[in-house]
Parts: sequence; structure tokens; C-alpha cells
Amino acid sequence: MKKQNILVLNGPNLNLLGEREPDQYGDISLDHIKELLHWEFPEVEFCFFQSNHEGDLVDQLHESHQSGVSGIVFNPGAYTHTSVALRDAVKAIAPPVIEVHLSNIYSREPFRHVSHLAPVCVGQISGLGALGYSLAVRWLISSHP
Ligand code: DQA
Repeated sequence: MKKQNILVLNGPNLNLLGEREPDQYGDISLDHIKELLHWEFPEVEFCFFQSNHEGDLVDQLHESHQSGVSGIVFNPGAYTHTSVALRDAVKAIAPPVIEVHLSNIYSREPFRHVSHLAPVCVGQISGLGALGYSLAVRWLISSHP
């Protein structure tokens, strides 16, 4: 059986997870999330990428399309609320993308209530902390076995 190939993509400031606003985002680091995903889904081949730069995230989405990844878990950070370029990139590629947020963006400041990406993603998970990444992977595995 062919191994699932999933990209876990994280946007700006998510490299600071664990130290950054723990009341909002919890005290778990991005490396720890990576370890948990490897542990929970040994059958999946993961690629992890984090960048604070919009264009790097666009490039990564294009590359994942070209390399044929089966799905993408994407926390675009603050670019969620601002980036038409990331929305267009998600729309342009074939792999299904699930938008994930650690915090509940709808219970926060009004400017976070708008996601430019959500309408072009297959779904959105918001407010379930690090578990959101794992649930997104589960969905990708179950819908594209
Ligand atoms: C976030 C929510 C965004 O509004 C914020 O800018 C982030 C993190 C989250 O995971 O809850 O950087 O994407």
C-alpha cells in the first residue's frame, strides 16, 4: 500500500509556539506537535515546513502540488486574515487543504473572524489546540486511504 504523504505547513510566528502567548496557544512547541504526529501516525510520511514569509508558503504549496502530496494541514497564522496570495495558491493546487488554528479565531478580535482561506479549504478546525492538527491528519487519511 502506498504511504500517505502529508504536508504540515505553518505560517508566521508559529515557530514561537510554546513560548508565545501560552494562554492563547498553549505551552506545546511546534517540535512537540511534530513528535506527536509522528508517534500517532507512523504510517504517514510527513513533511513539516514553517515560514514567517508569505512567498515561501506560496512556494511550498506549489511544490507540494508538483510532488503529489496527498493532503495539507495548514495553519497560516496571521496570513489567514490578510492573504489573497495564499488563498489563490490553495485554490490553484490539487491536494486537499485543511485550515487549522490552535485558538478559536471566532472568539477573538473581530479582525480574526475573517479567513480568506477557509472558503477554498475542505474544512477548518479552530480552537482545539494541538489536537486540531491530529484531527486534520485523521480526516485526510480517512478520506484518501
Ligand atoms: C492562529 C490564529 C491567528 O489569528 C494568529 O495570527 C496566529 C495563530 C492560531 O493558530 O490560533 O498566529 O493561526
